[in-house]
Amino acid sequence: MHIKKIKYHAIFLVLFAVSVLPVTAKATERPAQPDSAYLFAYASAKNNHDAGLQLAWSVDKTKWESIGTNYGFVKSDYGPWGRGKKMFNPFLFRDRAGLWHCVWGLGSDIRAFAHAASVDLINWKRQSYPAITKGDAFLNTSVTYDAAQNTYHINYSDKKGKHYRINTVDFKAYSASQEVPDAAAVNQPQTLNLAEGAETGNIALVARPVLDKLVNTFKQRQRAGALNSETLRKDSATYSGLKPLSISIKPLPATAKPISDMLIGIFFEDINYAADGGLYAEMIQNRDFEYAPADKSGRDANWNSTYAWKVQGDGISLKIDSVAPINAYNQHYAQLSVNKPGGVLYNTGYDGIALKKDGKYNFTFFGKADGASPRKIKVKLVSAKQGVVAEAVIKLTSTGWKKWGTTLVPAATVTDAALYIEPLSSGKLALDMVSLFPANTYKNRPNGMRTDLADAIADIHPRFVRFPGGCVAHGDGLDNIYRWKNTIGPVETRIPQRNLWGYHQSAGLGFHEYFQFCEDIGAAPVPVIAAGVPCQNSSTGGDGQQGGIPMADMQAYIQDINDLVEYANGAVTTTWGKKRAQAGHPKPFNLKYVGIGNEDLISDIFEVRFKMIFNALAKSHPEITVIGTVGPFHSGTDFVEGWDVAGKLKVPVVDEHYYESPGWFINNQSRYDSYDRTKSKVYLGEYAAHAPGGQTNLETALAEALYLTSLERNGDVVKMASYAPLLAKENHTQWNPDMIYFNNTEVKPTTGYYVQTMFGKNAGDIYMPSAVTLSDTATSVKKRIGISVVKDKQTGDVIIKMANLLPVEVNAGIDLSSFPALSATATKSVLTGNLADKFLKPGTTQIKAPKQLTQTLPAYSFTVIRIPAKPLK
Ligand code: AHR
Repeated sequence: MHIKKIKYHAIFLVLFAVSVLPVTAKATERPAQPDSAYLFAYASAKNNHDAGLQLAWSVDKTKWESIGTNYGFVKSDYGPWGRGKKMFNPFLFRDRAGLWHCVWGLGSDIRAFAHAASVDLINWKRQSYPAITKGDAFLNTSVTYDAAQNTYHINYSDKKGKHYRINTVDFKAYSASQEVPDAAAVNQPQTLNLAEGAETGNIALVARPVLDKLVNTFKQRQRAGALNSETLRKDSATYSGLKPLSISIKPLPATAKPISDMLIGIFFEDINYAADGGLYAEMIQNRDFEYAPADKSGRDANWNSTYAWKVQGDGISLKIDSVAPINAYNQHYAQLSVNKPGGVLYNTGYDGIALKKDGKYNFTFFGKADGASPRKIKVKLVSAKQGVVAEAVIKLTSTGWKKWGTTLVPAATVTDAALYIEPLSSGKLALDMVSLFPANTYKNRPNGMRTDLADAIADIHPRFVRFPGGCVAHGDGLDNIYRWKNTIGPVETRIPQRNLWGYHQSAGLGFHEYFQFCEDIGAAPVPVIAAGVPCQNSSTGGDGQQGGIPMADMQAYIQDINDLVEYANGAVTTTWGKKRAQAGHPKPFNLKYVGIGNEDLISDIFEVRFKMIFNALAKSHPEITVIGTVGPFHSGTDFVEGWDVAGKLKVPVVDEHYYESPGWFINNQSRYDSYDRTKSKVYLGEYAAHAPGGQTNLETALAEALYLTSLERNGDVVKMASYAPLLAKENHTQWNPDMIYFNNTEVKPTTGYYVQTMFGKNAGDIYMPSAVTLSDTATSVKKRIGISVVKDKQTGDVIIKMANLLPVEVNAGIDLSSFPALSATATKSVLTGNLADKFLKPGTTQIKAPKQLTQTLPAYSFTVIRIPAKPLK
């Protein structure tokens, strides 16, 4: 071991000396050291530069072997998905301390370059994207070392063929670009013929053990990928001949441990029309005439202030005006000019307006008429098939903006209504904030939620609600960061904005409504605030796309977060507590958690801002538990760097995210068993099993159920978990799969929804390890069974969850003898069916629960048995 170390050290010194010099090696030559090889680093047009840093190796520079096809060891994370995330002309080298660096171009229109470093070429540290100050592009990358100045030169040329150099000592601070004469241009990229074809890149020397580890890592990742592609759909081949099995389960209360009582929660994001047109019960689309082409990046010519509105009839015209609006936040309104009564302005809602016979609907609007005379309008709810189902006349008596309203009661149940506004006299009439709300919102809250959707959410029994995103929280570019203060107060004073999922956010469902909804469903509010940086996939903001709130504005930003805590928890005598009281909720909302950041790129820009916010909150509100963020994936640079930041700052909880195949969930169920219990706790803030094509079905639901049994087992470290996304409106879905699909009249909970409810309704706060023996001990069989036994301290009930992902029945024998105080009857819920079924429901029965309980777990099923504590005599 010792000898090896010395030898490796010697190789390293020589390699270093070579690597910092310009690459001038001849076409065919062997490295000076037998224990080394050449590494060719390139990024390929064959995968549109998406794969990132690809490597090929050779011992003689003649025969090259690629490490994987289109396989990248580090991918560029610059720019939005689709047109961004590309790597051009990477240059790989080692510095004087032996650290590997890669510098690459980001695209011929981008005046910045990227840098990342790695100890072993496998684990890459955070990326940075320094700007160039001269030249129209960063092309033909190379790096050389100037020993006399102890400085690295980053050399590049631009589209005009001019050459430039940037100096750096530490790859953190960079000089401005300097133009250099053509003659000084060094290290031009080399083109090699690999098996896949010609590629251009640079050659570095690498110690053989490092190369071997690279190759082995690639192979390991291939093997893991193959394992994770496991699917239940191929079971007839994989498990052919498998006979029904038996399993014995003996819970061991003596080894019980406390687990989180917050495990199952929900993540609400305004994606897929989850808020406007969804949970938020407003029925009028574009009620404020604030839809803007920018909401859809100008891609939809019809998406403007008149969207969902039309005029019909002679003698009436519509103009969108912005002179003297209701207030400065609500710039646009409808100006109707009526020459002859009879015409109408109408709104088609979100795919039509669905009404219930005899239901009460509150119609309100802000209006002003010209001239002194009162003006009458008729408001009608008109079904395309059934005609007028409700109508009323409102008399406007003011020439200034004023809120008017009436209650409409439809005479029929319809799904295809529109709201008609018919001026009954000639003249001009201005309208804004035209609203129609069912009176029976969830818990009858004004400006409240759609009851059926809210009921479905409440039925999960979520212990917490994370909101308002997701990507919506950190926004698409600095201007799009979600600002909670824009979303409170009277709805007409709120500031709507572009929803980065390609539509409009009215802010009608704002932070006050989120808090109120949490209270109404008995869940803890978990607001997520951007960590001073927008989404790394931002499509706005130009070079250095992650950007960050300017330092000069950070104190104000932090104050906003303090104000949020005050809004939620402060006394009514405080500035923000008073606003909460004015909104109708004098009592505090009992906020305990605040998420800072959403799966951000963990860059220097991020870290400095996160740290400022975290330290400030710890000082001003030590009672608040901050939830940090560790990137968008379950592994990789952001994950490692995020955990590192969390470790340094002692962040109490971090938010992990992963969307994976069912096979991934099956093969990674021991993930948290080895987590360090002394470090930050985990909030699995976004996860879902995805079948091909973004499908959700029994297979994905069972993979989630199996995985959730492992989360309960690790409930001492995994404090919270929320499936994502929660809601999706049919025909307005940007992301699949989702937990609950819906349209204007139907709520369609998926099979996976019932897994969440089965866990949510049957949560425990004590986990009981069990002695489990399966009649087949093959790993491939054992991993398809998940068992979790928990106890609910408050009721004393014992709950047994059993996921069977095998194609055969499993006969379970459950030894309950260690629980003398349990009832002799239990409730059993079983979710099972065809693997492809998207909308299955569990069946529930009462069963006898003797001390030796036997139950059959059907093939492909999830079973929950809840045994109540014996009633006290
Ligand atoms: O859940 C949908 C999106 O997935 C979230 O907005 C984002 O955080 C994640 O990438």
